[in-house]
Amino acid sequence: MTKKARKPLPEPSGAVEIKSLTPEGRGLAQVEGKPVFLHGALPGERVRFRYTRIRRDHGEGAVIEVLRASPERAQPRCPHADICGGCSLQHLDPEAQIRWKQTLLARTLDGAGKLCPERWLPPLTAAPWGYRRKARLGVRYVAKKGRTLVGFRERGTSYVADLRRCEILHPAVGERLAAIATLLDGLSIRERIPQIELAMGEGPCVLVLRVLASPSAEDVTRLTAFGAAHGLHFYVQEGGAETIRPLPGQGADLYYRLRLPDADIRLDFQPTDFTQVNLGLNRLMVDQALALLDPRADERILDLFCGLGNFTLPIARQAAEVVGVEGDAGLVARARTNAERNGIGNARFVAADLYGAPDHPPWTAGRYHKVLLDPPRSGALPILEELPGLGARRILYVSCSPTTLARDADRLVNGLGYRLAAAGVLDMFPHTAHLESMAVFERD
Ligand SMILES: C[S@@+](CC[C@H](N)C(=O)[O-])C[C@H]1O[C@@H](n2cnc3c(N)ncnc32)[C@H](O)[C@@H]1O
Repeated sequence: MTKKARKPLPEPSGAVEIKSLTPEGRGLAQVEGKPVFLHGALPGERVRFRYTRIRRDHGEGAVIEVLRASPERAQPRCPHADICGGCSLQHLDPEAQIRWKQTLLARTLDGAGKLCPERWLPPLTAAPWGYRRKARLGVRYVAKKGRTLVGFRERGTSYVADLRRCEILHPAVGERLAAIATLLDGLSIRERIPQIELAMGEGPCVLVLRVLASPSAEDVTRLTAFGAAHGLHFYVQEGGAETIRPLPGQGADLYYRLRLPDADIRLDFQPTDFTQVNLGLNRLMVDQALALLDPRADERILDLFCGLGNFTLPIARQAAEVVGVEGDAGLVARARTNAERNGIGNARFVAADLYGAPDHPPWTAGRYHKVLLDPPRSGALPILEELPGLGARRILYVSCSPTTLARDADRLVNGLGYRLAAAGVLDMFPHTAHLESMAVFERD
């Protein structure tokens, strides 16, 4: 069968007006009655653009000229901002990014059940650059360029972006992307490395190389010499997560501390464990969660999707007892060790699949005064029905998806008798369209 020839894309457009910003951070224009989604365009702007894709019901494109700029437009700090898919909002002033995220959260809640929080929490913000300590970067040897590329994917494609540096990654790696690419380029296995995973707490910085062939002795020497010179620790992963190992002399203890007014807690973790990417914002987030949950000395608290114990252990310092539930057995083991090392004896951890829960899951035994929920993007709908029966008067919901938060909030408020007492934005990923938030639900 012959391949159908692709229709050529239309010529660059004339001037169009940008009506609004979509949830992925693209400017929305109407051209001949169809929506067109434009990277790099802001509401109120007049721009010219080139098409990057045409579909039956919409088009996609990128700005080539800004004819009338928004007063909220900012000069991207990163020279790769036009092509790199790591950020989508560097052209929008950081304060305007936060206003936009708050508006988006309000609209999403309103759209899913006419919900409006009784109180808006002030947005939580931390350093807008060099914040990212956890990331998965693509690696690709490109024969045509005669070199290896390391970076996020190009926007809208699966190609690795040709980055020299990155402004949102922690500088330990963000400032060394070009040097790391040159290092990998000199390895015998340069064509067999699809990915690097960055893992970093407060101390050492670990780079896990996903490899499809074992590095040679010469490769190991190069990697360890580079690691020693730049303060990086190289690990390799030849198969599943259980195969991750440090190269000789490269092992590192990963940890971060939660230095909170009432608790100084150290959390140790492994390179591929879930950890919050932005440690500065994480400390503020945990602090705010404690203030809103307000665990009392005689209360039992349930922490669902608890990971390493990021919220569980600080809660344990204030409550009578806390039970953390988590699906990843490795994280549960780390949470138990973290509790022990911090001298916390009133935190219990249960390994359970919260989406596939049996009729009477073990964590529903007994009653809880309050519940913290911190689910992945898919949200917490399957377990919400259990919560009123547990006696929970207050639910603190930490969300990484406004859509599933709004869906779950609709169920809690319009189905299960809770009030939406407060909500607010957490700027965990500045310059990206990722929207993290926190909401408080109460029941009399
Ligand atoms: C957004 S993270 C929050 C982790 C932790 N609260 C923190 O702040 O570090 C979501 C957690 O949910 C866990 N998880 C994902 N699917 C799950 C499931 N089906 N059952 C239980 N836990 C799950 C993940 O392993 C991850 O630790």
